[in-house]
Amino acid sequence: MSERVINIGLCGFGVVGQGVLDHLERKRSVLREQLGVNIVVSRIAVRNLSKARDINVDPSIVSGDALSVALDPDVEIVCELMGGTGIAREVTVAALKAGKIVITANKALLCDHGEELLSLAREHDGHLLFEASVAGGIPVIKAIREGLVINEFSSIYGILNGTCNYILTRMANEGLSYPEILVEAKELGYAEAKESLDVDGIDAAHKAVVLAYLAHGKWVALEDVRRQGITDISQEDIQFAKNSGYAVKLIAVVDRDRALNSLRVSVLPTLVSKQCSLGSVDGVHNAVAIHGDVVGETVYIGPGAGRDATASAVISDVVDAAKLLIFGGPEGGYPFLDPAPRNGSNIVLASAKDLKSRYYVRLVVVDKPGVMAEIASVLAAREVSLASVTQKEVGEDEERVSLIITTHLTTEQAILDVVEDLGNLESLEEKPFSMPIGNFA
Ligand SMILES: NC(=O)c1ccc[n+]([C@@H]2O[C@H](COP(=O)([O-])OP(=O)(O)OC[C@H]3O[C@@H](n4cnc5c(N)ncnc54)[C@H](OP(=O)(O)O)[C@@H]3O)[C@@H](O)[C@H]2O)c1
Repeated sequence: MSERVINIGLCGFGVVGQGVLDHLERKRSVLREQLGVNIVVSRIAVRNLSKARDINVDPSIVSGDALSVALDPDVEIVCELMGGTGIAREVTVAALKAGKIVITANKALLCDHGEELLSLAREHDGHLLFEASVAGGIPVIKAIREGLVINEFSSIYGILNGTCNYILTRMANEGLSYPEILVEAKELGYAEAKESLDVDGIDAAHKAVVLAYLAHGKWVALEDVRRQGITDISQEDIQFAKNSGYAVKLIAVVDRDRALNSLRVSVLPTLVSKQCSLGSVDGVHNAVAIHGDVVGETVYIGPGAGRDATASAVISDVVDAAKLLIFGGPEGGYPFLDPAPRNGSNIVLASAKDLKSRYYVRLVVVDKPGVMAEIASVLAAREVSLASVTQKEVGEDEERVSLIITTHLTTEQAILDVVEDLGNLESLEEKPFSMPIGNFA
């Protein structure tokens, strides 16, 4: 009997695409033995046919037309590794409508169009797999929908953007400012030329939306994610954190309140205790802590991006896809349960009035009598109770001081109001900066 061959079309042959081909080739014989099939990359699509690549391939399989690769009748598994939400969506929609299995590493695509794409997959008996879209090499999607399938999730929090974590770690270790590190991070290829997706927390928000869907069956719109990036974090914040046993991390949170039937997705700079599992996750690493009602807390730490880590996750989907093709059909199994029956459509978005945390607020003020009293009265008017105040001169300028305030437990709405009111005070020299003080295990 002739050997079963499964053909893959790689749409995108950049960092991740080349990593996928490289590792599939290296492990071809092992996979063949384990699966009993030969997985072959039979077609590749790129934008620029004349670009030099690290991995050489037979030019006859490379095309500039991603749609034709995805719709090639011999291609059973389509890997969308192009990025963005334009051609990537077009190719994914077309392949799913053709009943194919599509694998993507594209969190932006999932965040914006996940609902549409998954329903297309169901409608046309295709599949959409996306292990590499969140936390790169960490198999967190498999953890949520397979390993932890019996759990209801109260909270998921994570460091989901390696670039931000790298910048914050270097700010803490070397005392450099955010702009200084950003320049270097770009030179080293850790940050994109257009850094906004990373440093403004958009990439982490895309990933948090995917996790929220997997855990609760609800797609939260990107604009409903409360989001703040790392660009306003100063050395003062970092030093305060260090001296108080904390680290500043960009933390994505997916929080479910079952009593209120609400869900909250946020990405915020956060003071995280060095004692907690995420507090000492440094550099480009990602980490995700998941609280399930049956298992308790599980924590996953590892490389969140990069050619090899991401290829590892994409290939785990390739193997699932191959299993679906080999064992699938009416008698076959679906490798995971659909989160939609978790009945996410009934869940409401949490109100800032119901969310409580302690907060850190940094202010730069004119050093004159009465300023502290003014600030205290703003806090009192919003019923925010002060836990501590630290005052420091700003640079050489004796007329300006920075005040770092921490609060007792208060609502997010109250702190948003306080920050707005403080920003209106004449004695304020800069926009106030605030962040929650995380209460993580
Ligand atoms: N890099 C990572 O560490 C990482 C980690 C997790 C997830 N991801 C996700 O993985 C995806 C790919 O990322 P990447 O880093 O591999 O990107 P990349 O290096 O920029 O590669 C993108 C590839 O897509 C091709 N492409 C773009 N537009 C195309 C079009 N219209 N038609 C055909 N081909 C087209 C490009 O062709 P040319 O080479 O000819 O320009 C290139 O080969 C993205 O969704 C990204 O968010 C990446």
